Amino acid sequence: MCGIIACRTIQPAVEYLCTGLRRLEYRGYDSVGVALQTATAEVAHLRTVERIGALDELVRGWSGAPLNGVGIGHTRWATHGLVSEENAHPHADCNRRIFVAHNGIILNADQLRDELTRSGHRIATAVDSEVLSHLIEDALSEHRDLFKAVQTGLTRVQGTWAIAVLERGTGRIVVASNGSPLLVAHSAHGVFAASDIAAIVDWTDEFQVLGDGDVVELVDGGQWVRAEADSVPLISRRCSWQGRDADLNGYSDFMAKEINEQPAAACRVIDDLGTSIDSGELWTDRGLGTFDRLKIIGCGTSMNAGLVIGNVVRRLGRIPVTCTIASEAADDIPETGQLTLAISQSGETADVLQALTSDAIGGAPLVALTNNQHSSLARRADAVLNCDAGPEIGVAATKTFVCQVIAGAALMISGLSATGRIDRSAAARLTDDLRRLPEKLAAALNVAQCRVPPLIEELSDCAGFIFIAKGSGLPYAAEGALKLKELTYRWAEHYPAGELKHGPLALIGAGTPVVVVDNGDTRLRANMAEIAARGGQLLTIGSADSAIDVASDPSAAWGPLEATVPLQVLARTLALSLGHDVDKPRNLAKSVTVQ
Ligand code: F6R
Repeated sequence: MCGIIACRTIQPAVEYLCTGLRRLEYRGYDSVGVALQTATAEVAHLRTVERIGALDELVRGWSGAPLNGVGIGHTRWATHGLVSEENAHPHADCNRRIFVAHNGIILNADQLRDELTRSGHRIATAVDSEVLSHLIEDALSEHRDLFKAVQTGLTRVQGTWAIAVLERGTGRIVVASNGSPLLVAHSAHGVFAASDIAAIVDWTDEFQVLGDGDVVELVDGGQWVRAEADSVPLISRRCSWQGRDADLNGYSDFMAKEINEQPAAACRVIDDLGTSIDSGELWTDRGLGTFDRLKIIGCGTSMNAGLVIGNVVRRLGRIPVTCTIASEAADDIPETGQLTLAISQSGETADVLQALTSDAIGGAPLVALTNNQHSSLARRADAVLNCDAGPEIGVAATKTFVCQVIAGAALMISGLSATGRIDRSAAARLTDDLRRLPEKLAAALNVAQCRVPPLIEELSDCAGFIFIAKGSGLPYAAEGALKLKELTYRWAEHYPAGELKHGPLALIGAGTPVVVVDNGDTRLRANMAEIAARGGQLLTIGSADSAIDVASDPSAAWGPLEATVPLQVLARTLALSLGHDVDKPRNLAKSVTVQ
């Protein structure tokens, strides 16, 4: 989704902005732009619907006064208005004095546009964000001070925003946030603001996060005005990874890198959490207590991890679990004794954050499982568990899924031990099983890399795919189907194997590919026979006897996690053979900050 970077630096800002915008590319974007101050206090306003390389060209072709150390930049993922240069951010006011880069949604944009037009403003685009520059323009004519003008302009806005505002002439930059992430960092290179630490991690790892309603001037020792008098004090936070962790480091694409990193990431997670699981400390150290029901909230791959974690809790603790897709949570019924587990690798998914405001979730203790412990989700939760996957740049989640499953299972096993639902020795045995996962994932990677590529030619003409499984295998079938459709743009649906004969069997004809995630449940045999009898093409992945045998343990409470790896390799290899960009699948974004 959209990304923002702004800076006031000693060296030319353009160098920082272009590098930062490249670091934000992974979020998915369709156009990119910058507003840069020149030595004569003019503004170079450069935008393109091409990749960031084209922006470099525009900068090189700039023939005005030299560019100085002040600028703002934006990557846009269209929500309002077509993908066009005109619709790309930053947006200017009528006099081209104010330039605004915005993430979020302005809910009353139509009304504001009418009001502004009636009062003589020339609105050039259909983009909701443009009204911000005109609102600030109005306020500036009254206050003559950018900081106050931003504060005043925003009082008329309903919705969410992270904005960076550059004023031509003074070169002042003011940033503000409400319901959309934004951080500020001071470093030896200068002062930065960014929607994501990834944008500036090459120059600093320490930052402060804006709270809702905060307005900050981007200057050393600049004004930081908090929305609420009783706001939590500003905390300096640190990013635990470095710029090079988010580089390709010799891999052809980020998805390949991230699939390959899974054994090491799993090892890091279990090494870090392993000693506090069976004692229950992982649970109690986070201030968590007893619970009678678990509600899990998430979207997409994070929800698939949630389904696995839910199965662990049901199976080991005999505790009722409800898994609700975040965008549907508003209609849920709150239950007494409920604990809510919200899972989101980015921690910024708008559907998840919105779900947390619903009555169904509102009062219950909230645990966040996220790959971003500084995220909005983490800041809102009562307890946080970092899934510690490291930066994931490929849009399709891979290593974050595996790390969510392992960290989430570890937390819940610890919770079951702490609350006396399982005894400590059982928790210790389960921890030992978790410790074996990195090795099993590494073996699964080897098997997948040998066995999957030879299958691809035969599959490349198949229009649709079916994934089936039973019980603990089902979330993995869901995840395999999700990866395949995201990356190959082919239909891929998953079903509980027993459901086939209640409808989906009609889809199966000669050659229809059916991927079976085999968790060792012998009842799958009958379902496979039904498919084979109709000419379906079976591909089994999982426990012994599978065509792709990744040695899944039928008794594992978390099911056949190792099967994830060949499922990912299948989706990636097929997508590459079809000529698709596996890191940036069409229409998708990494951090989905709109509902
Ligand atoms: C799929 C994928 C998405 C995300 C979903 C939730 O590969 O990445 O389905 O899982 O958009 O994102 P987070 O985990 O950031 O809340």
